[in-house]
Parts: sequence; structure tokens; C-alpha cells
Amino acid sequence: MSDPISTEDHGPVRIIWSDNPPVNALGAAVRQGLVREIEAAEADDAVEAVVIACKGRTFFAGADISEFGKPPVMPWLPTVVDRIEACEKPVVAAIHGTALGGGCEVALGCHYRVALPSAKLGFPEVNLGLLPGAGGTQRGPRVAGVELALQMAVTGKPVSAQVAADAGLVNRLVEGDLIEHAVAYANEVKDTRPLPRSSQRDDRLQDVDPSIFEEFKKKNAKLFRGDVAPAANLELVRIATEKPYEEGVIAERNKFMELMVGDQAKARQYFFFAERKASKIEGVSDDVQPREIKRVGVIGAGTMGGGISMNFLTAGIPVTIVEMNQEALDRGTGIMRKNYDSTARKGRMTPEQVEQAMGLLKPSLNFDDLAECDLIIEAVYENMDVKKDIFGRLDGIARKGAILASNTSYLDINEIAAATSRPQDVLGLHFFSPANIMKLLEVVRGDKTADDVLVTAMAIAKKIRKVAVIAGVCYGFIGNRMLIPRQLEAEKLLMEGATPQQVDKVHVEFGMPMGPFQMADLAGVDIGWHRDPSRIESIRDALCAIDRWGQKKGAGFYDYDENRRPSPSEKVQGIIDDFAKQKGIEKREISDQEIIERTLYTMVNEGAKILEEGKAQRASDIDVVWVYGYGWPVYRGGPMYWADSVGADKIVEGLKRQQERLGDKFSFSQLLLDKAEKGEKFTR
Ligand code: 3HC
Repeated sequence: MSDPISTEDHGPVRIIWSDNPPVNALGAAVRQGLVREIEAAEADDAVEAVVIACKGRTFFAGADISEFGKPPVMPWLPTVVDRIEACEKPVVAAIHGTALGGGCEVALGCHYRVALPSAKLGFPEVNLGLLPGAGGTQRGPRVAGVELALQMAVTGKPVSAQVAADAGLVNRLVEGDLIEHAVAYANEVKDTRPLPRSSQRDDRLQDVDPSIFEEFKKKNAKLFRGDVAPAANLELVRIATEKPYEEGVIAERNKFMELMVGDQAKARQYFFFAERKASKIEGVSDDVQPREIKRVGVIGAGTMGGGISMNFLTAGIPVTIVEMNQEALDRGTGIMRKNYDSTARKGRMTPEQVEQAMGLLKPSLNFDDLAECDLIIEAVYENMDVKKDIFGRLDGIARKGAILASNTSYLDINEIAAATSRPQDVLGLHFFSPANIMKLLEVVRGDKTADDVLVTAMAIAKKIRKVAVIAGVCYGFIGNRMLIPRQLEAEKLLMEGATPQQVDKVHVEFGMPMGPFQMADLAGVDIGWHRDPSRIESIRDALCAIDRWGQKKGAGFYDYDENRRPSPSEKVQGIIDDFAKQKGIEKREISDQEIIERTLYTMVNEGAKILEEGKAQRASDIDVVWVYGYGWPVYRGGPMYWADSVGADKIVEGLKRQQERLGDKFSFSQLLLDKAEKGEKFTR
């Protein structure tokens, strides 16, 4: 492998270049090269200042994650950063792209930082279950101030170069040629002594109100639930304000090592690569080029259609949205504007950006207007006949090569595609509600979907900042298909003696954002209901029949006050008890472990069936669906990774223990049984 580190002299300024595609991760060769060249520059009398810069798309995006868990190769990153900071000649970081994690720490080791306005700086280590482990928790607050450093380390969200410059983390923002400016800056500071060393500063640590940490925790309570890394990051920033630098870095190192060997970090690191793998389509060559999407059409301006449209508008792609009547069209576009305005009020968009996005929207009552679109997404209600009718009509008007997509959550894409004369152009694009916010997109591959249609879907997903996963055609695809057994078991548990609160509590304690009944109330208990109040076959039917459709009606499995705060419902308990009596089910004490086995183990079993039927490309894709679509705690990796950590044999044992209660329809996945027998894993 060629050396990723090289140098180039510009008069008295030496540029140390890193060229380690794709993201200049700080792997062993980069670390070794940086130390070698800093030492050489220091020893060379002709060199008066140094610039550290990166080729390609970004400044160092962090430590090389693929090295984690392998035997360490020296020097460590902390040693590299210390060596840069100790250099007796000024060192300037020239930042473009993303200076993340170890990359931001290298920048902090430099005496000065110059950045393009488009650059971003951040500490995403928390997303890998870690903390900045090369001095970042101690240098960060000293340079950027405690507030910004705390926010960066605990949330993992990068900040813009402008925010970094306002806080002092970037010394100079430069437009145009970054290297030219960085060299000029190095020339300006080449005689400055003493050099500003981040570790030796403590001016930004004076007068810090210690309550900042508790306040931050209170304000961001959700981040800390069940997850160890955010608390560790907060603690280390606090230590920076209380202890000398030398003690702080020792505490940082110890905590880093402790986190690194923990289960949560391993799960998160697994997930980092799982997410990236999801975009790769098996059996499709890298040479397949995406079709060009210049305008998108959306059929239906309801909640889903509106949310879907906003994704494209925000990304600068014009949308034609079609409805049946003016009232529905006005209502839909009105909600879109309201959502944008609310984003602007929160400071996440400027009013100009809102106008720009809304300016790209063409509302229409004329179906024929879709003829100008390159991708048309149908987002009307779930009814096969209606969808087939729409696709038949689309076939008549869409231009040749246009991609026709359905946002169905359950229905058969092959059947929908068969309503057209071009099934190769048809696929499912299953967005999750609220569609403008949720990251997940299930891309449903029909039997005849063309490769370049899939490639286009994955490319457009990236453009609108979604994480896309390929799913095969089956009822509910990946996510909802696994949700079904979970919801069914949860409801059965109620009749056997559990309460909605108990089942939900077990799920929330597991790390889910909400339990099955909280979710049903939020999404609408009536979703998928047959709409015949006289036909009562389940607790759900009984609730729907008396208008308890969930939060939107102020009542569902729970009662809700005017602020949508839930409380247990006696009425619901009565319905459950009546039902149990009617069915002759005896109530008994239900343990939390049984709830896990009945609801989560059954999900794993369904996930294994999805895999053995080839409806998901890989186990890790199932995990991506559940983390991004349903809030499965990422520190548990996803249901299939979690199953591996429990052990397939234990899952099978648990299911067998519950088998009698799971009912007639329960069938084991052969793949799960095989894994259990052979002691194999799904994900590793
Ligand atoms: N180490 C190893 N590989 C990395 C990497 C890293 N830090 N960051 C990205 N990659 C790889 C990805 O796996 C992917 O590989 P593939 O093409 O084989 O799938 C490739 O680089 C491109 O990555 P993306 O698809 O994510 O490219 P994007 O352009 O969408 O995003 C990015 C670029 C914003 C840099 C994003 O990759 C990212 O966020 N990377 C991780 C950054 C990070 O977490 N850094 C902290 C590392 S931990 C650390 O530094 C510890 C230290 O404190 C001691």
C-alpha cells in the first residue's frame, strides 16, 4: 500500500498532506506518517511553519473504525495529537469537508485552524458508544468553550464552520482556495511564540456555572435513557472544568477503554457498518447507472403524500402534487407550509429556504400533469383496487422510463406492477410516518423491477437523506411484517393478565421509545380496522367500535387528557376482562421475561423467516429497518444483532417455553432453529 502521507513545500511553509480515501480515516499508516513528518519538519531548518491538509472529499473523518477491536498499532492517536501540539513550529489545520472525532482532535492539536465555510466539525464518537479519546473531551472545552463542547460530544451532532468560528474553535473562515489561505495564515503566524497550545489553556474554563451539566441532562433526558456513552461524554467534559488537563486526559483514556470493550459500543460500531452496507444491492453491478430524476410527482396530498413531497422539496427537487379536489389539495399544501414554518421557527431553516422549497411545489388537480415527472409516487389509502386503477392510469400518461412507485405499507407490489405494461419500472417506496422526518425508506423490489430502477431509488434516497433498505414483496415487507406478531402477542398477553402499562413499560425499559399499546394509540388503533362496529373479534375491534381510536380521539388503550398525557383506563380494563371471560382465558401473573419472550422473541423468529425467504438481503438490513423505522435502541444493535447477543438457542428455548401460549399459528423459522443448533449467529 502506498504511503498516505506526503509533503509539499511552499517557501518556508511545509504542507503535510494526507491522502487516504474515502474519508481520510486516521489509520495506522496515517498516524505513523503524521508523526514522521512533524518530526522531520521540526528538524528541518528551512521549514518555519506547517499546514496539515487532506486530499479528497474531506479532512480526517476520525479514527479508522475498522481497526477497532483489532490489536493496536502504534502510535496511538492521542500520541499523534500530543506530538503535533508539542511541535515547536506553528502547525495550522486546513479543514474542508468534515473534521470528525479524531479528525477534530487532530485539528485541536494544531495550534491554529483555518476552515472553509462549508466544513463541519464534530465529535460523533458518542454514536459509536465512545467518547473523543485523543484529548477531545479536554481540549474541546478549553478551545470551544464548555457549552459547545458539551453539546458536540454528548449529541454527536457536528456544527458548521461558522458556529465553530464564533466559538473560537476555528481561527479563520476562508473562501476560495483553502490551501492558499492556510499557507498565507501559516506565513502570518510563523514567528508567533509562545504557540497557543490547546491543552495549556484554561481561560475558557473560568467562571463555568457547574449547573450547566445538570441543566443539559434535564433538557436532553431522552439521550441518556439506557445509553451509557452520552453520560460518559458529559462526565468527561465536567472533569475538564474541575481537574488539571493531565488528570483529565487520564480519566478520558480510562473511560474510553472501558466504553470500547462494552456491549453498547460493539453494537453501535456494528450498526455503523450495517447502515452503510444497507445501500448495497446484491446482484446488481456497480456499473448500473441511475436514471435522472428532475421532477417528482406525488399522488395524494394527505399526511403521507405531503410528508413525502417535503423530502424532495427540501432537497431542491421540484414536485407536482395531485389531488382529487381543491379542498384536499389546499389542506395538504397548507399543512406542508405549516410544517415548514414550524421548522423555520425552531431555527432549522431560514424563511428564504422555506419559500424556496414551497416555490418548487406545483399543486394540481389534473392527473395528466404527472406526465412531466421522472418519478411518480402514489400515496393514497391502502386499497388494492384503487392502487391498481391509479397505476393503470399512470401507465397511460407517464413518460417512457419514468419510475412508478407505490408508498403501500403492506400490499403486493407485483400485483400493482401487473396493472401496467411496464412492471420493470415499478417498485415500492415505503416511507415511514411522519415521512418528512423519519429516516427509513423501505425500497420494495418487485419480481420484475429493473436494476437501474433500484439503483435510482437508492441514489435518490441518499439525496433526500433517508436510509434505504431493500425489501422483497411480502405482507408488511420487513418492518411491519415483524410488527404483526409483536402486536398480536401483546394483545394476547392482555387477556392472560398483563396490563397495557406493564407491556409498554417492559418495552420502554428495553430501550424502545414506546411500547406496543402506546404506539397503537399514537398511530391510530383504527389502522387496518374492518370498519364494522358489530364485528368484534379482538380487543382492538372492541376499542374501535366505541370510538377509542387512540390519541386523535382522546382515548385508545389509554385515556388521554387535553395535553395528550396518558393514564390507565378502567373502561379498557373492563373490555379486556370481558373478552378474557368470553374466551375462557384464565388470568395469571405475567412476568416481564414472558413479555420479552412473547413479543421480542417472536419478532426475531419472523425476522429469521424474512431472511430465509430472501425478503431481506442480510440480517443487518433488518436491524437498520428497526432502528430507523421503529426506534429500536441502537445501543442494542437491532433485533437480529440483539438475538445474536442473547443466543439463537436461548431464543428457541424461550419460544418453546411459550409455545403453548403462542397459539396454533405459531411456526418456527427453520433458519432460527438451524442457527440455534449450530451455535451460529445471524449478524457476525
Ligand atoms: N473509519 C473507517 N471507515 C470509515 C470511517 C471511519 N472513521 N468513516 C467512513 N468510513 C467509510 C464508510 O464505512 C464507507 O465505506 P464503504 O464505502 O466501504 O461503505 C466510506 O467510508 C464512506 O462513508 P459514508 O458512506 O458514510 O460517506 P458519506 O459521504 O455519506 O459520509 C462521513 C462521510 C460524514 C465522514 C461519514 O462516513 C461519517 O460520519 N463517518 C464516521 C465519522 C466518525 O464517527 N468519526 C469518529 C470515529 S471514532 C474516533 O475518532 C475515536 C477517536 O476519538 C479516538
